[in-house]
Amino acid sequence: MVSRPERRPPGRALPVFPWDTLAEARSRAAAHPDGLVDLTVGTPVDPVAPVIREALAVDAAEPGYPTTVGTPALRQAAVGALARRYGVTGLTTDAVLPAIGTKELIAGLPSQLGLGPGHTVVVPEVAYPTYEVGALLTGATVVRADSLTQLGPSSPTLLYLNSPSNPSGKVLGVDHLRKVVGWARDRGVIVASDECYLGLVWEGEAPSILDPRVCDGDHTGLLALHSLSKTSNLASYRAGFVAGDPALVAELLAVRKHSGLMMPLPVQSAMAVALTDDTHEDEQRERYRARRARLRPAVEAAGFRIDHSEAGLYLWATRDERCRDTVDWFAERGVLVAPGEFYGPAGARHVRIALTATDATVDEAVRRLA
Ligand SMILES: Cc1ncc(COP(=O)(O)O)c(C=O)c1O
Repeated sequence: MVSRPERRPPGRALPVFPWDTLAEARSRAAAHPDGLVDLTVGTPVDPVAPVIREALAVDAAEPGYPTTVGTPALRQAAVGALARRYGVTGLTTDAVLPAIGTKELIAGLPSQLGLGPGHTVVVPEVAYPTYEVGALLTGATVVRADSLTQLGPSSPTLLYLNSPSNPSGKVLGVDHLRKVVGWARDRGVIVASDECYLGLVWEGEAPSILDPRVCDGDHTGLLALHSLSKTSNLASYRAGFVAGDPALVAELLAVRKHSGLMMPLPVQSAMAVALTDDTHEDEQRERYRARRARLRPAVEAAGFRIDHSEAGLYLWATRDERCRDTVDWFAERGVLVAPGEFYGPAGARHVRIALTATDATVDEAVRRLA
């Protein structure tokens, strides 16, 4: 028999799925006489706005294949939303591309941009785990760094930013982003800025990487990744998009067309409406603001310090102890929170507390922390 190379299932290169390690704390919290209050996963709980559901239903009878590039209405709506909501100038419709949820885009981005073994991807010190997953799937090397000085003379191919951050809620200001863009331009590094929480800011402001104060209106080498999961409660629809450098977007489009990464047409129509209507987005932001205003003081009164968390959907809390000890402390009260170490070694003394719970659940959490 002719020999052949060994098969290498890419899943073997991936880290252990960390949520499995929470099983014990979960069952302890669930044993609470009043039941489990789960503040781990940031999944939306409020219903999808009627205006979006109606748009989905209108195209539910459409039998044909949708396009990968997205309908003109969707692309125009994405350009309009970035301009109106975040002051992004100079974008054209050929510089935006829908994604079947931003997670899909992030997991495939390094391979779709042509990275492989020998390339380096920089991710934040505490980070959404899919940045690392996407890099490992294509054989690239992952480096964790929050500052350019940590990188020394090295020249990565792709650098992720995430502002506001999951899990810490940290926001990077105009000056920080400008420095990163200048540094990346000098070295030809692609910057992928995950802006999924840009519409959920509680203190100060959070600029986009495509903000003219950051990039002087030049989008070369820049990609902004956006999701409608949190701002429009569309996690179940799988609705995100990428915007930025038209040349990079065209590269992604070419690969994604051949790979069949088409967003379902009814979702495209729903997303176009969601990006055009700001009312439902404002209402959802205020729901989260009110939940945060109740939960944050309760966590602080229970003896925790909240770091960052000026934006986004989480409280990044610590008592300067091992995060698993904090998880246990919450679990004894029937409350489940996520250990910070899920997001990188730098999170080992924090827990992430999600604001994505119903008003009743938040009230119950506050009662138990008192
Ligand atoms: C930082 C960050 N990026 C991307 C995503 C993925 O969002 P989507 O639901 O669009 O896949 C999430 C979801 O939690 C996230 O927290």
